Amino acid sequence: HITSGLARGLQTQALKKSSLAFCFDVDGVLLHGHEAIPCAKKALRMVEGENSRGLKIPYILLTNGGGKPEAERARSLSEVLGVNISEHQLIQAHTILRPIAKKYGHEPVLILGGELDTCRKIAEGYGYTQPSLPIDYLATDSRIWPFYKLNDAENEIAKPHPPHPKFVLTVHDPRNWALEIQLLVDLLTHPTHPPPKIVFCNPDLLWRSDYPRSRFGQGAFRTALTAAYRASTGKKLEYEQFGKPTRATYEFAEGFLMDQAGIEVGEEMPRVYMVGDNPESDIAGANAHGWESILVNTGVYNSADDGPPVHWPTRMLDNVEQAVEWAIDREF
Ligand code: G3P
Ligand code: MG
Repeated sequence: HITSGLARGLQTQALKKSSLAFCFDVDGVLLHGHEAIPCAKKALRMVEGENSRGLKIPYILLTNGGGKPEAERARSLSEVLGVNISEHQLIQAHTILRPIAKKYGHEPVLILGGELDTCRKIAEGYGYTQPSLPIDYLATDSRIWPFYKLNDAENEIAKPHPPHPKFVLTVHDPRNWALEIQLLVDLLTHPTHPPPKIVFCNPDLLWRSDYPRSRFGQGAFRTALTAAYRASTGKKLEYEQFGKPTRATYEFAEGFLMDQAGIEVGEEMPRVYMVGDNPESDIAGANAHGWESILVNTGVYNSADDGPPVHWPTRMLDNVEQAVEWAIDREF
């Protein structure tokens, strides 16, 4: 009785200081679109304790996706993946904008991306007090972009006469590139107001949805904007980039992982295994941050078609279940 109590105590202690931790990418590793990749549920159950050691292993989800408040997204991910994921385990592309609002929340900002005013509401939830949308400008003067008419839902939520923005925050993947590129170039070349600082939260040129071929992500929008800005001004677009693989995003995510692992600043980190499908974001970022990286074959990268990945992972495996199995066996 005493020994089992002692064992439980030691295991709890071991639990707090697990020797390994996981960082899971979402699209192309756990999900295809809104559906769970079949083996993802098993993989997460293994991390939650259904493994040969009976150990609950700390983990976070780190995605270049987003478009919903963290608490709401965590609830829907928990439902789809069959495990309880808290908002404190979820870092989306735009989560990093929340601490930034402490310093710049009072400034007028233009918010890009997402459906209708979902991203305006995310910005307000982070503490931005003057978030505008591209449709606010079109509602002010429909001549800004003559090839698009606001629909009833947009007219309902538009707030005409927005203040000139200090920042443009690309919270999620833009939906109306033509209007948004025209508007951003107008704002960057405004005759009297200073150009806003442009911030992107996701550099992905491609990502894997439920369509069998990778889709253009926010990085493709940035590419289009950069080209139109240079063609019309001759200048190189200046911008701040967050999201995987940037150092800022991995450092930000590490704080969440330390919380999950019960690690204080200065204490030794567990060995972190990043499981991703995109060599450019998941593998490049993990390698640069000194984490182990596992590239799986269920997303952007496909070993049958793509040849050697541009960024070499610690290990290449078929899917996230194999990734979790391999990492646990390797650690114990
Ligand atoms: O918009 C989402 C996409 O760019 C990538 O998401 O989860 O693979 O980082 P994820
Ligand atoms: Mg992915």
